[in-house]
Amino acid sequence: MSSEGNFHISVMVKEVLEGLAVKSGGKYIDCNLGGGGHTAEIMKRGGFVLGIDCDQESISYVERNFERQINDGKLLIRLGNFSRLGELAKSCGFNQVDGILYDLGLSSFQLERSGRGFSFQRHEPLDMRMDNQLKVRASDLVNGLSKYELCKLFEQFGEEQHSWAVAQAIVSARALEPIVRTDQLANVVREVLGYKRGSLHPATKVFQALRLAVNQELFNASESFKQAIELLGSGGRLVIISFHSLEDRLSKNLRENKCLVPVNRKPIIPSGNEILANPRCHSAKMRIYEKI
Ligand SMILES: C[S@@+](CC[C@H](N)C(=O)[O-])C[C@H]1O[C@@H](n2cnc3c(N)ncnc32)[C@H](O)[C@@H]1O
Repeated sequence: MSSEGNFHISVMVKEVLEGLAVKSGGKYIDCNLGGGGHTAEIMKRGGFVLGIDCDQESISYVERNFERQINDGKLLIRLGNFSRLGELAKSCGFNQVDGILYDLGLSSFQLERSGRGFSFQRHEPLDMRMDNQLKVRASDLVNGLSKYELCKLFEQFGEEQHSWAVAQAIVSARALEPIVRTDQLANVVREVLGYKRGSLHPATKVFQALRLAVNQELFNASESFKQAIELLGSGGRLVIISFHSLEDRLSKNLRENKCLVPVNRKPIIPSGNEILANPRCHSAKMRIYEKI
């Protein structure tokens, strides 16, 4: 990528381009611009792109690295949440489009270098906001919700089987001192759930749940999908890459939508070689729909 280091390694690039059926002169919306990796490939095939991201650091990165394409009118970028997709697209003249891409979740930059506490492997403030204008941080939830509310949150957004025990441990720990850092939270969870070698880190689901709640990820995605279907022209493609079962459920449910037909019976997953080269993509699932 650029001299600024690897912002993100784009997932299933060839499959995304085939899924979107990119054609020269077509209009595409990349709802998860990130480091602009997918967008760059769409533009190479002659597509015009509106790229959206709610993280100012992603927008600034793309502005610096895609100056030529922006000046040539091939790329428009907007800072915003894709839950307002319809409004953002129409304000840019993208009233009817040929394809819309979602590559849900976090960029590698956000996980590894943003300093915002997305990973239990780092020692960082427990923030987890993708958009720094959001009011509620993960630490506000961890220290402010009741035991019952924490338990529900870990169950609903983390599918954590031991949510009550984790909630109980958090409430006891925060009575001694507020939990404001990732390592504090990871330690509390590890102490209550233990650690089995070779299995997922015990805090994985708790961190996922907090991140989904802070950024209202599932709500925003389902709101956005409705608007995406409206914006697609007939024959337009909707491509969704998800990284965990809750996201994939939303994407899979679109099979029931009468305006869409699934292009593939089963989700597309990364090849073994891609997973070897980029282990973070191991859980990716891509679903493709065509608007009738
Ligand atoms: C997996 S990365 C996308 C990587 C990108 N496809 C690439 O190839 O570089 C996900 C990006 O989506 C953004 N994002 C997540 N949820 C969003 C939302 N609701 N609205 C706008 N952007 C969002 C994140 O800030 C992050 O930059």
